[in-house]
Amino acid sequence: MNAATQDVLLRVEGLNAFYGRAHILFDVALEVRRGEVVALMGRNGAGKSTTMKAIMGLMDRAQGKVDFLGKDISRARPHQIARMGMGYVPEDRRVFADLSVLENLEVGRQPPRPGAVAWTPQKLFALFPNLGEMPQRLGGRMSGGEQQMLTVARTLMGNPYLVLLDEPSEGVAPVIVEQMADMIMTLKREGMSILLSEQNLHFAELVSDRAYVLENGHVRYQGTMDELAADAAVRHAYLSV
Ligand SMILES: Nc1ncnc2c1ncn2[C@@H]1O[C@H](COP(=O)(O)OP(=O)(O)OP(=O)(O)O)[C@@H](O)[C@H]1O
Ligand SMILES: [Mg+2]
Repeated sequence: MNAATQDVLLRVEGLNAFYGRAHILFDVALEVRRGEVVALMGRNGAGKSTTMKAIMGLMDRAQGKVDFLGKDISRARPHQIARMGMGYVPEDRRVFADLSVLENLEVGRQPPRPGAVAWTPQKLFALFPNLGEMPQRLGGRMSGGEQQMLTVARTLMGNPYLVLLDEPSEGVAPVIVEQMADMIMTLKREGMSILLSEQNLHFAELVSDRAYVLENGHVRYQGTMDELAADAAVRHAYLSV
Protein backbone atom coordinates (compact mmCIF):
# COMPACT_ATOMS: atom_id res chain seq x y z
CA MET A 1 0.00 0.00 0.00
CA ASN A 2 1.50 3.35 -0.95
CA ALA A 3 1.10 6.57 0.98
CA ALA A 4 -1.69 7.82 -1.27
CA THR A 5 -3.92 4.78 -0.73
CA GLN A 6 -3.24 4.77 3.02
CA ASP A 7 -4.50 8.29 3.08
CA VAL A 8 -7.89 7.34 1.66
CA LEU A 9 -10.18 6.47 4.58
CA LEU A 10 -13.26 5.73 2.53
CA ARG A 11 -13.43 4.70 -1.10
CA VAL A 12 -16.73 3.97 -2.82
CA GLU A 13 -16.82 2.59 -6.35
CA GLY A 14 -19.70 1.49 -8.56
CA LEU A 15 -22.26 1.80 -5.78
CA ASN A 16 -25.80 0.91 -6.81
CA ALA A 17 -28.69 0.81 -4.37
CA PHE A 18 -32.36 -0.08 -4.53
CA TYR A 19 -35.54 0.38 -2.52
CA GLY A 20 -37.50 -2.68 -3.52
CA ARG A 21 -37.43 -2.60 -7.31
CA ALA A 22 -36.65 1.11 -7.52
CA HIS A 23 -33.07 1.68 -8.63
CA ILE A 24 -31.89 4.74 -6.66
CA LEU A 25 -28.08 4.97 -6.89
CA PHE A 26 -26.20 4.47 -10.15
CA ASP A 27 -22.48 3.69 -10.00
CA VAL A 28 -21.75 6.26 -7.33
CA ALA A 29 -18.03 6.76 -6.74
CA LEU A 30 -16.42 8.95 -4.11
CA GLU A 31 -13.62 9.06 -1.62
CA VAL A 32 -12.77 10.75 1.63
CA ARG A 33 -9.15 11.21 2.60
CA ARG A 34 -7.80 11.53 6.10
CA GLY A 35 -8.56 14.94 7.58
CA GLU A 36 -10.92 15.99 4.81
CA VAL A 37 -14.42 17.41 5.06
CA VAL A 38 -16.28 16.33 1.95
CA ALA A 39 -19.77 17.53 1.00
CA LEU A 40 -22.27 15.28 -0.72
CA MET A 41 -24.64 17.71 -2.37
CA GLY A 42 -27.82 17.66 -4.42
CA ARG A 43 -31.47 18.59 -4.26
CA ASN A 44 -34.25 16.76 -2.38
CA GLY A 45 -34.36 13.15 -3.44
CA ALA A 46 -30.98 13.23 -5.22
CA GLY A 47 -29.75 10.25 -3.22
CA LYS A 48 -27.59 11.78 -0.49
CA SER A 49 -29.13 9.88 2.43
CA THR A 50 -29.31 6.67 0.41
CA THR A 51 -25.59 6.93 -0.30
CA MET A 52 -24.86 7.22 3.42
CA LYS A 53 -27.18 4.33 4.28
CA ALA A 54 -25.54 2.17 1.63
CA ILE A 55 -22.06 2.98 2.99
CA MET A 56 -23.25 2.09 6.52
CA GLY A 57 -24.65 -1.25 5.35
CA LEU A 58 -28.24 -0.17 5.98
CA MET A 59 -29.71 -0.82 2.53
CA ASP A 60 -31.40 -4.17 1.95
CA ARG A 61 -30.14 -4.17 -1.58
CA ALA A 62 -26.90 -2.56 -2.69
CA GLN A 63 -24.03 -3.50 -4.95
CA GLY A 64 -20.58 -2.08 -5.38
CA LYS A 65 -17.31 -1.66 -3.62
CA VAL A 66 -16.99 0.17 -0.31
CA ASP A 67 -13.56 0.21 1.31
CA PHE A 68 -13.01 1.69 4.75
CA LEU A 69 -9.48 1.85 6.20
CA GLY A 70 -8.37 -0.34 3.32
CA LYS A 71 -10.89 -3.11 4.14
CA ASP A 72 -13.85 -4.17 2.04
CA ILE A 73 -16.98 -3.38 4.08
CA SER A 74 -19.51 -3.87 1.31
CA ARG A 75 -20.88 -6.99 3.02
CA ALA A 76 -20.40 -5.90 6.61
CA ARG A 77 -23.28 -5.33 9.02
CA PRO A 78 -23.97 -1.81 10.30
CA HIS A 79 -22.78 -2.57 13.84
CA GLN A 80 -19.54 -4.04 12.50
CA ILE A 81 -18.93 -0.93 10.41
CA ALA A 82 -19.63 1.26 13.44
CA ARG A 83 -17.15 -0.78 15.48
CA MET A 84 -14.49 -0.26 12.84
CA GLY A 85 -14.73 3.46 13.54
CA MET A 86 -17.35 4.86 11.20
CA GLY A 87 -19.79 7.21 12.92
CA TYR A 88 -23.18 7.96 11.39
CA VAL A 89 -25.64 10.72 12.26
CA PRO A 90 -28.83 9.96 10.31
CA GLU A 91 -31.19 12.69 9.21
CA ASP A 92 -33.85 11.75 11.77
CA ARG A 93 -31.31 12.50 14.54
CA ARG A 94 -33.12 10.74 17.37
CA VAL A 95 -32.05 11.12 20.96
CA PHE A 96 -33.25 8.96 23.83
CA ALA A 97 -36.06 11.14 25.19
CA ASP A 98 -36.06 9.58 28.68
CA LEU A 99 -32.29 9.75 29.14
CA SER A 100 -30.32 12.79 30.22
CA VAL A 101 -27.72 14.45 28.03
CA LEU A 102 -24.95 12.63 29.91
CA GLU A 103 -26.75 9.29 29.67
CA ASN A 104 -27.31 9.80 25.96
CA LEU A 105 -23.58 10.36 25.59
CA GLU A 106 -22.79 7.18 27.54
CA VAL A 107 -24.91 5.17 25.11
CA GLY A 108 -22.48 6.14 22.36
CA ARG A 109 -19.32 5.29 24.24
CA GLN A 110 -16.83 2.95 22.57
CA PRO A 111 -13.24 2.13 23.49
CA PRO A 112 -10.52 4.53 22.32
CA ARG A 113 -9.02 3.81 18.91
CA PRO A 114 -5.38 4.18 17.95
CA GLY A 115 -4.97 7.35 15.91
CA ALA A 116 -8.48 8.67 16.58
CA VAL A 117 -9.42 11.53 18.88
CA ALA A 118 -10.48 10.08 22.27
CA TRP A 119 -13.67 11.91 23.24
CA THR A 120 -15.04 12.34 26.74
CA PRO A 121 -18.19 14.15 27.87
CA GLN A 122 -15.87 16.88 29.20
CA LYS A 123 -14.25 17.41 25.82
CA LEU A 124 -17.60 17.32 24.07
CA PHE A 125 -19.02 19.94 26.42
CA ALA A 126 -16.17 22.23 25.38
CA LEU A 127 -17.14 21.64 21.76
CA PHE A 128 -20.88 22.04 22.46
CA PRO A 129 -21.17 24.60 25.29
CA ASN A 130 -24.98 24.41 25.12
CA LEU A 131 -24.89 20.76 26.10
CA GLY A 132 -22.40 21.51 28.85
CA GLU A 133 -24.95 23.79 30.44
CA MET A 134 -27.57 21.04 30.68
CA PRO A 135 -25.91 17.68 31.41
CA GLN A 136 -28.97 16.45 33.35
CA ARG A 137 -31.61 17.70 30.88
CA LEU A 138 -33.74 14.91 29.43
CA GLY A 139 -33.36 14.39 25.69
CA GLY A 140 -37.09 14.85 25.19
CA ARG A 141 -36.93 18.30 26.76
CA MET A 142 -34.40 19.77 24.39
CA SER A 143 -34.95 21.93 21.30
CA GLY A 144 -34.49 20.40 17.86
CA GLY A 145 -31.13 22.10 17.46
CA GLU A 146 -29.93 20.88 20.85
CA GLN A 147 -31.01 17.35 19.97
CA GLN A 148 -29.11 17.66 16.71
CA MET A 149 -25.96 18.59 18.64
CA LEU A 150 -26.52 15.75 21.09
CA THR A 151 -26.74 13.18 18.29
CA VAL A 152 -23.45 14.44 16.85
CA ALA A 153 -21.84 14.41 20.31
CA ARG A 154 -23.13 10.90 21.01
CA THR A 155 -21.65 9.70 17.72
CA LEU A 156 -18.29 11.25 18.62
CA MET A 157 -18.32 9.26 21.90
CA GLY A 158 -17.61 6.26 19.66
CA ASN A 159 -14.21 7.82 18.78
CA PRO A 160 -14.76 7.41 15.05
CA TYR A 161 -12.15 7.91 12.33
CA LEU A 162 -14.82 9.13 9.95
CA VAL A 163 -18.26 10.63 10.58
CA LEU A 164 -21.13 10.58 8.10
CA LEU A 165 -23.32 13.59 8.90
CA ASP A 166 -26.65 13.66 7.12
CA GLU A 167 -27.76 17.28 6.58
CA PRO A 168 -26.53 18.86 9.81
CA SER A 169 -27.95 22.27 8.87
CA GLU A 170 -31.41 21.13 7.86
CA GLY A 171 -34.42 22.31 9.82
CA VAL A 172 -32.50 24.01 12.62
CA ALA A 173 -32.40 27.69 13.55
CA PRO A 174 -29.74 29.91 11.94
CA VAL A 175 -27.89 30.28 15.23
CA ILE A 176 -27.60 26.48 15.47
CA VAL A 177 -26.45 26.31 11.85
CA GLU A 178 -23.62 28.66 12.77
CA GLN A 179 -22.70 26.53 15.78
CA MET A 180 -22.77 23.42 13.58
CA ALA A 181 -20.36 25.08 11.14
CA ASP A 182 -18.03 26.09 14.00
CA MET A 183 -18.24 22.58 15.41
CA ILE A 184 -17.32 20.99 12.06
CA MET A 185 -14.36 23.33 11.63
CA THR A 186 -13.15 22.50 15.14
CA LEU A 187 -13.45 18.78 14.39
CA LYS A 188 -11.48 19.30 11.22
CA ARG A 189 -8.71 21.03 13.16
CA GLU A 190 -8.67 18.00 15.49
CA GLY A 191 -7.98 15.87 12.43
CA MET A 192 -11.44 14.31 12.03
CA SER A 193 -12.62 13.22 8.59
CA ILE A 194 -16.20 14.01 7.70
CA LEU A 195 -18.60 13.21 4.89
CA LEU A 196 -21.60 15.49 5.16
CA SER A 197 -24.69 15.63 3.05
CA GLU A 198 -25.89 19.12 2.41
CA GLN A 199 -28.21 21.11 0.18
CA ASN A 200 -27.11 24.43 1.59
CA LEU A 201 -24.22 25.62 -0.58
CA HIS A 202 -23.33 28.41 1.81
CA PHE A 203 -22.95 25.97 4.70
CA ALA A 204 -21.02 23.48 2.57
CA GLU A 205 -18.69 26.22 1.38
CA LEU A 206 -17.92 27.27 4.92
CA VAL A 207 -16.80 23.87 6.09
CA SER A 208 -15.88 21.59 3.17
CA ASP A 209 -12.75 20.96 1.16
CA ARG A 210 -14.36 19.13 -1.73
CA ALA A 211 -17.81 18.31 -3.02
CA TYR A 212 -19.66 15.65 -4.99
CA VAL A 213 -22.95 16.69 -6.54
CA LEU A 214 -25.68 14.08 -7.01
CA GLU A 215 -28.70 14.21 -9.27
CA ASN A 216 -31.11 11.32 -9.65
CA GLY A 217 -28.62 9.00 -8.02
CA HIS A 218 -25.73 9.88 -10.34
CA VAL A 219 -22.62 11.84 -9.40
CA ARG A 220 -22.81 14.74 -11.87
CA TYR A 221 -19.92 16.79 -10.61
CA GLN A 222 -16.92 16.57 -8.34
CA GLY A 223 -14.39 19.21 -7.49
CA THR A 224 -12.99 21.40 -4.81
CA MET A 225 -15.42 23.62 -2.94
CA ASP A 226 -13.81 26.66 -4.59
CA GLU A 227 -14.32 25.18 -8.05
CA LEU A 228 -17.96 24.44 -7.30
CA ALA A 229 -18.53 27.92 -5.89
CA ALA A 230 -17.11 29.39 -9.10
CA ASP A 231 -19.17 27.15 -11.40
CA ALA A 232 -22.54 28.88 -11.80
CA ALA A 233 -23.72 26.44 -14.47
CA VAL A 234 -23.29 23.41 -12.20
CA ARG A 235 -24.87 25.20 -9.27
CA HIS A 236 -27.91 26.16 -11.31
CA ALA A 237 -28.27 22.73 -12.85
CA TYR A 238 -27.99 20.62 -9.70
CA LEU A 239 -28.39 22.84 -6.65
CA SER A 240 -31.11 25.23 -5.57
CA VAL A 241 -29.08 28.35 -6.27
N1 LIG B 1 -37.60 4.19 2.21
C1 LIG B 1 -37.73 4.49 0.91
N2 LIG B 1 -38.48 3.72 0.08
C2 LIG B 1 -38.59 4.00 -1.23
N3 LIG B 1 -37.98 5.04 -1.84
C3 LIG B 1 -37.23 5.84 -1.07
C4 LIG B 1 -37.05 5.62 0.33
N4 LIG B 1 -36.24 6.58 0.83
C5 LIG B 1 -35.92 7.37 -0.21
N5 LIG B 1 -36.50 6.94 -1.36
C6 LIG B 1 -36.34 7.53 -2.68
O1 LIG B 1 -34.97 7.45 -3.03
C7 LIG B 1 -34.55 8.65 -3.70
C8 LIG B 1 -33.37 9.23 -2.99
O2 LIG B 1 -33.77 9.63 -1.69
P1 LIG B 1 -32.74 10.16 -0.60
O3 LIG B 1 -33.49 10.19 0.67
O4 LIG B 1 -31.49 9.40 -0.68
O5 LIG B 1 -32.47 11.65 -1.13
P2 LIG B 1 -31.74 12.86 -0.41
O6 LIG B 1 -30.78 13.41 -1.41
O7 LIG B 1 -31.23 12.45 0.90
O8 LIG B 1 -32.93 13.91 -0.25
P3 LIG B 1 -33.26 14.94 0.95
O9 LIG B 1 -32.45 16.15 0.67
O10 LIG B 1 -34.73 15.18 0.79
O11 LIG B 1 -32.92 14.29 2.25
C9 LIG B 1 -35.78 9.54 -3.77
O12 LIG B 1 -36.38 9.36 -5.03
C10 LIG B 1 -36.67 9.00 -2.68
O13 LIG B 1 -38.02 9.21 -3.00
MG1 LIG C 1 -31.66 13.00 2.81
